[in-house]
Amino acid sequence: MMSLVEDARRVRENAHAPYSKFKVGAALIAGSGKVYLGCNVENVAYPEGTCAEAGAIAAMVAGGDTSITEIAVIADSPKPVSPCGGCRQKIAEFASGDVRVTLATTDGVVHQTTVAALLPGSFDADYMSRV
Ligand code: THU
Repeated sequence: MMSLVEDARRVRENAHAPYSKFKVGAALIAGSGKVYLGCNVENVAYPEGTCAEAGAIAAMVAGGDTSITEIAVIADSPKPVSPCGGCRQKIAEFASGDVRVTLATTDGVVHQTTVAALLPGSFDADYMSRV
């Protein structure tokens, strides 16, 4: 778990966040055991920016993996960084509810939670069963 936080800490340094100045790093372990990394990539056209979690998930899918077994996110925040709503849904696409999510600050505060706790009542494919 802590090594995944350390992976996230390292990739956070690569974040492109000139507008918010808020760098975020994400690291995940996929079903294959491979680790995938992501950082936030902002854009002068602000809505085009992407979150660290989205970057790690895109790297995972491009790498041929289809499931998340663990994920960690880190930022320089007063309390462990909280993934945005969109990223919670993106994580849930590839992770079961019991998957561990580690949220961390750069100064060492860690909060452990799960995908289900982050996104209760999530929309999933079951709702489409009548289609
Ligand atoms: N951000 C992430 O990359 N992940 C999070 O979990 C929270 C927010 C980014 C988006 C934007 O580039 C910056 O942090 C400020 O919102």
